[in-house]
Amino acid sequence: MATNATTVFPRNFVWGAATASYQIEGAVDEGGRGLSIWDTFARTPGKVLNGDTGDIACDHYHRFGEDVGLMRELGIDSYRFSIAWPRMQPEGKGELNPDGLRFYSALLDRLESQQITPFPTLYHWDLPQSLGDQGGWTSRETSYRFADYVDKLVDALGPRVGQWITLNEPWCSAWLGYAVGQHAPGLTDLPAALAANHHLLLAHGLAVQAIRASSTAEVGITLNLAHVTPASEDPLDRQAAIFTEGNANRMFLDPLFRGAYPADMMELYGEATAEMEEGDLGVISTTIDFLGVNYYAPAIVGSRERLTELQALGYCVDTGRAPNLLDTTARAIHLKRPGFTSTQMGWEVEPATLTELLHNVRDQYRSIPIYITENGMSNADYVRHNGSVLDPARIAYLEGHLHAVAEAIASGVDVRGYYVWSLLDNFEWALGYSQRFGLIWVDYPTGERTPKASYYWYRDFIAAQAPLPRDRGVTSATMTLPA
Ligand code: FCB
Repeated sequence: MATNATTVFPRNFVWGAATASYQIEGAVDEGGRGLSIWDTFARTPGKVLNGDTGDIACDHYHRFGEDVGLMRELGIDSYRFSIAWPRMQPEGKGELNPDGLRFYSALLDRLESQQITPFPTLYHWDLPQSLGDQGGWTSRETSYRFADYVDKLVDALGPRVGQWITLNEPWCSAWLGYAVGQHAPGLTDLPAALAANHHLLLAHGLAVQAIRASSTAEVGITLNLAHVTPASEDPLDRQAAIFTEGNANRMFLDPLFRGAYPADMMELYGEATAEMEEGDLGVISTTIDFLGVNYYAPAIVGSRERLTELQALGYCVDTGRAPNLLDTTARAIHLKRPGFTSTQMGWEVEPATLTELLHNVRDQYRSIPIYITENGMSNADYVRHNGSVLDPARIAYLEGHLHAVAEAIASGVDVRGYYVWSLLDNFEWALGYSQRFGLIWVDYPTGERTPKASYYWYRDFIAAQAPLPRDRGVTSATMTLPA
């Protein structure tokens, strides 16, 4: 797919790459860090593929200087990372841990010295275990603990950060964590998932208010929005798609932008719906400055009751997608289309759905600055005998999705930036180290980093944009792809 990016991306468009604390840092027992629910989950046999944990991960805690160097060579404007709550507040309460502060201050210093703007996420799933022990996100108290934590953190690091993301993908925290059991803490309990859904949003709203009270920084939230297509025109399939989209998108966008949960979803969940207090929805819908959108793949959904007919049409069940989630709610099932290209995760590649999704958000809610805070693919990469990693499928994926973003911008969607997931190969949650999403290959036994072909491609793509008034010495000659 051809991209003529020089003409389609605004001059001040932000080019970035993203990571998250538990997925890259390692050093789980260092610097006074407390346990997180992901330490516990990953150490529980059978929860993570191959028994992998984030204990060492990419050892970014010790190698962050080298990683910032690689960012500089890549030429990104901005780095999205997350701050580990258990590193900053080991027990989820009380004063901030000085060693944690030192680590993130050093990272911010290093980014600043390379003129890379920090774009930190305040919560990317590593909840302190002590809060997990008290009910985690099923407990309303966790929302207050988060607001208190954010208040302290913004006081400490705030002057150096111009934009904060409160939560990463609360859908995953609530639904994969509490309904499907695929993520920490591993529950399969619908009322717990609905309580978590509400308390995460409440935590977000309280955090927005805390940040506004003490700083002029911009604040937003990152959602993993779904593009859902019914498998057929059959009313049962269409209804399944509506509920799936409601669960993934409207359960978050409606309270955030309209101050109400969607009526059809409330009716569907009935008695399982979370308890709320008066005023909660007002807090949740506190105005935000931008919306972060993570996007990977489209969803095709049918009704479980029609599975035989759908299979006769050539669909097969998408076993990689939250298998028992929708079954407990809407009798919906995720399907894969015959003959569609998929990534190693089994996720279908259809970039145009990203453009449509961005149109839908603007048309159904409001025009708001949007950052694509994650987009990328896992691939069966390997290091060749000459030391190079060739990943043409990833280059095509990124090119296709950048084209989709450019199309959205051309049709008036206010997209301000794009972050590749991920800078580095890393710990892919329940799939451990089996999925490589990085622009940079990581040799886990040694920690050695090798930029892949897609890294050089992205570097050249960024460099080909209308030159920004920046001087960070990035030239195409700085690094060259081994022959
Ligand atoms: C997203 C997560 C991110 C990463 C990618 C592949 O859901 O936010 O941490 O695992 O998927």
